[in-house]
Amino acid sequence: MPWSGWSTRARLIAVVLLIDAVAAVVSCGVIVLNARSAVRVETRASLATVESLVADTIRLAERAPPETLLETLDLRFQTLRHVRVAVIDTEGQRIGATVPERRPSREAPLWFADLIMPPIERHSLPIAAAGRALGSAQITTQPMDEIDEIWGYARALLLTTVLINTAMLAALYLALGRILAPLRRLGSALTQLEHHDYTARLEPPGTRELAVIAERFNKVAEALMVVRSANARLNQKLLTAQDDERRRTALELHDEFGPCLFALEANAASIARIAAGAREIDRVKLAARAGEIGTIVGQVQGVNRELLNRLRPHGLGQAPLATCLDLLLRNFGARYPGTIFTGRFDGLARGYDDLIDLTVFRCVQESATNAVRHGAATHVEAIAEERDGAVQVEICDDGTGIPVEHSTGLGLSGMRERVEALQGTFTLDNAGPGAIVRIAIPVPSDRNREVGDHPKVAQSA
Ligand SMILES: Nc1ncnc2c1ncn2[C@@H]1O[C@H](COP(=O)(O)OP(=O)(O)OP(=O)(O)O)[C@@H](O)[C@H]1O
Ligand SMILES: [Mg+2]
Repeated sequence: MPWSGWSTRARLIAVVLLIDAVAAVVSCGVIVLNARSAVRVETRASLATVESLVADTIRLAERAPPETLLETLDLRFQTLRHVRVAVIDTEGQRIGATVPERRPSREAPLWFADLIMPPIERHSLPIAAAGRALGSAQITTQPMDEIDEIWGYARALLLTTVLINTAMLAALYLALGRILAPLRRLGSALTQLEHHDYTARLEPPGTRELAVIAERFNKVAEALMVVRSANARLNQKLLTAQDDERRRTALELHDEFGPCLFALEANAASIARIAAGAREIDRVKLAARAGEIGTIVGQVQGVNRELLNRLRPHGLGQAPLATCLDLLLRNFGARYPGTIFTGRFDGLARGYDDLIDLTVFRCVQESATNAVRHGAATHVEAIAEERDGAVQVEICDDGTGIPVEHSTGLGLSGMRERVEALQGTFTLDNAGPGAIVRIAIPVPSDRNREVGDHPKVAQSA
């Protein structure tokens, strides 16, 4: 389409121009049709009037001297409108033919005259004086007078219409510029968003519809800005968390393994010294050293297990998910003897995706930690089951509940991020009667899994 690249303003102006052109053509047609019949009626009426007028004049002038009668008549007939009266003598010569024809000041162009001109009509009246035929008066219709008049009106009408339309189009052009300006501003604001500049905002324009669009745009930009800063905060926290984790691991390796390794080294050296001594080997001492080595190795194994478990909960993916969760709660119970941890994991599959299993595990772990750490809870209950195509998890406590103004650590936001990354939902409120965390993670329907056969109940204090 040739107009496909046109602006809205140009299109609207073109439509108005087209309507104008059609209106002009229709108006011209109506004017021509009306003018045609008006000219015909007018010239006919004039012809009838003039015919009787000329006949009367000829009769009244019968007593005038015959030599000047024709000239007198010719002079009288020269001022008539819409008809021409020519006085002809008996030889067919026109009397007073030298008198220049009256020319109208406005002359309609030929094409216009052709459009309107009715057929010319001619009548001839004999002129006689004292019983002698002197010649004749030839009456011819002359519509050009009327046509010239109509042309004058038509030209004035055309000029007025052109002036009014030009003024109207100029006003329309300016008005469209003002009306469409907010759309141009919306376009550049969208480009700003495209370039990740979320500070773009639109002034509310005067028109109601565009004001709604501007308001929605501002809300979207605001939401994008919030999401972006939340992302930036989370990224920062993740980086800090990674760093913290490394530092903690390094510290544990240093504080736990360092002394143990030193003690192992000292015991080994002592055994070597006993073995290399000249005196008889002291078996009791040797057994004591071996005993110490055994204790230290046990200690190292414990720390090692805890470290590995923190980095990646062992058992996940090998033992059923419900068993891993039971074990987790049991460990919590052992670590926090003042709190009761109960779990109900009926109807959970043996396992899901690695990511789903880990997310469920981490959420229970973090919620239980928060319940003890922030809510001072005495009872924490975790329930997990597969329902409506999703793994549904609830962890509630009887602690103080989440304060209205609480800080945002990595725990809650991390849980939300993990769950939402799996297209799940995460909600948090204080109906636990302390805090209650609810999680639903959809499970792919075509997964190949083994449904757990025993409902699990864990209780530790
Ligand atoms: N079970 C709960 N009972 C009472 N308050 C809670 C509970 N869970 C979370 N909160 C409140 O919400 C805040 C944020 O918790 P979140 O787990 O995100 O961070 P954190 O525990 O302070 O630090 P992190 O988990 O990163 O080590 C907490 O500081 C606490 O005020
Ligand atoms: Mg926490």
